[in-house]
Amino acid sequence: MKRAIIVPAEEAEPVRSDLLQRGLLDKTRKIKVSNRHTVEKFLEIPVTGDVEGHTVIEQKELEYYGKWESLKERLEGAIPAEELAYVPSGWQLIGDVIIVSIPDEIDSRKAIIAKTLLEMYPGCKSVIRDFGIEGQFREPKRQIITGSQTETIHRENQCLFKMDVMRIMYSKGNLPERKRMSMLGKDEVVVDMFAGIGYFSIPMAVYAKPEKIVSIEINPVSYGYLRENIQLNHVEDIIVPINGDCAKLTPEGVADRVIMGYVGSTHHYLEQGLMTIKKSGGVLHYHETTPEELLFERPISRIRDAALELGREVGIQECHRIKKYSPGVWHVVVDAEIT
Ligand SMILES: C[S@@+](CC[C@H](N)C(=O)[O-])C[C@H]1O[C@@H](n2cnc3c(N)ncnc32)[C@H](O)[C@@H]1O
Repeated sequence: MKRAIIVPAEEAEPVRSDLLQRGLLDKTRKIKVSNRHTVEKFLEIPVTGDVEGHTVIEQKELEYYGKWESLKERLEGAIPAEELAYVPSGWQLIGDVIIVSIPDEIDSRKAIIAKTLLEMYPGCKSVIRDFGIEGQFREPKRQIITGSQTETIHRENQCLFKMDVMRIMYSKGNLPERKRMSMLGKDEVVVDMFAGIGYFSIPMAVYAKPEKIVSIEINPVSYGYLRENIQLNHVEDIIVPINGDCAKLTPEGVADRVIMGYVGSTHHYLEQGLMTIKKSGGVLHYHETTPEELLFERPISRIRDAALELGREVGIQECHRIKKYSPGVWHVVVDAEIT
């Protein structure tokens, strides 16, 4: 028998939170308006057992929370109605960790948000609050709300990415680009100048099987995970990881394809990116963040200007918007054939 107690609507919130604290609230069922025909409005609060001081009824028409129920819907009644507007509608699952941005306006609700998210994803172990990405190493600013385990293995497109989410970023918005890269490079020599933990190198090595990928990463923490991910994905015979600054370590004249998967100041590295391409020619994947009004003219002219300096020819193949980076600014990639 599924039980509920009936309480006047205006008393429902303190009763509900008391039941919640005492572990007597059945959180799988929804609070419903009672069909008692009185002027006063009553609510049925689902409970797990007898509750002293209340008449317990058998609830007839049961309404369960579905998996599809949004976080906001689940928090209805649990936090003040005016705060519901700030409840996030999206989050990121990385391995068994949930990453969520929580506005300051509902800072005091972070614990219940984390608890509710863990109820929605019982396979997850930790909930981490995200404050954005900073600096040249693209390090995330994050805070653990609940759980202690922050190192995890994320599976995407059958590739494994091990990382500590407190120290390493992983952008959900770059998924289509990671997939696109997984289809390019067969039998080629590729240089991945900003390799991170292997965001592009790993899928390319697993699927396209280039002859070799030289993967350069400056951040020692990311580099450590890059090495682990090479092993986890069994691509030791394809990827050669290098720890250091690609401005100094990019090899010259070796690549059929070069990936410049970094944003912010990528154009400062264009000389090295172009010089690594074989004299006989190759393809450049140049990323940058571009204001909407300069799409795609600015990245194209930056490539052309740098190529002109080096006496190389440029043929633009494709231009893609990867994701919105900030208001009015896009993360883009331009594919250019360099000869
Ligand atoms: C985080 S990745 C970019 C994200 C990637 N596009 C994705 O799919 O999420 C960029 C990497 O470039 C590295 N990096 C920055 N400057 C570098 C440099 N001069 N040489 C080598 N690596 C560099 C950063 O440490 C970072 O790991």
